[in-house]
Amino acid sequence: MIELKNFVDLNAEERKMVLTWRNHDSIRTHMYTDEPIGEKEHETFINSLSGRNNKQYFVVYKNHAPIGVIDLTEITSESASLGLYANPFSDRKGIGRIILRALIRYAFETFHLSTLHLECFEENEKAQALYKKFDFKEIKRMIRYERPIICMELNREHSAS
Ligand SMILES: CC(C)(COP(=O)(O)OP(=O)(O)OC[C@H]1O[C@@H](n2cnc3c(N)ncnc32)[C@H](O)[C@@H]1OP(=O)(O)O)[C@@H](O)C(=O)NCCC(=O)NCCS
Repeated sequence: MIELKNFVDLNAEERKMVLTWRNHDSIRTHMYTDEPIGEKEHETFINSLSGRNNKQYFVVYKNHAPIGVIDLTEITSESASLGLYANPFSDRKGIGRIILRALIRYAFETFHLSTLHLECFEENEKAQALYKKFDFKEIKRMIRYERPIICMELNREHSAS
């Protein structure tokens, strides 16, 4: 059973867990903000999400075990930009597929968006392989923060998840 828990509803222990994941080397090297995040900054970030309707972050639970984080940002009535990472302390094989499927379903079926966008560092082949499996198509390449990135997109009518 898959459950999504909004960051604004996380208890203190869950907030700490998410910070530990986000600061893990294997996660932050793939993020635009790659410096370790402090506890205060993390709290301020989570508190800032209350009442915002253009950003949503969730911990994904599978059978009550936390397996990853998914997010939608730049949310409009039509589209959003997605992000995700797997729990770096679990045996991560296959978690990517579970959390991305949960995110796509949430975005298209619960939130009724039409298009999902994402940006991924070119060197992050693992993430790209995952996105391609879900039929995300490359739309352009560019440089951000002095690193080459790939922009991909998925439309609801092309989603097979
Ligand atoms: C991206 C991430 C969520 C993928 O999760 P995961 O559970 O490790 O993913 P999976 O094991 O399902 O692997 C996805 C696919 O990529 C393939 N893959 C693994 N390593 C690869 C590599 N180096 N090059 C190309 N493909 C690779 C896998 O074979 C798998 O395909 P399969 O299901 O046919 O075996 C996870 O690695 C992660 O949290 N990474 C750090 C954060 C991150 O990069 N987020 C995305 C930012 S754009």
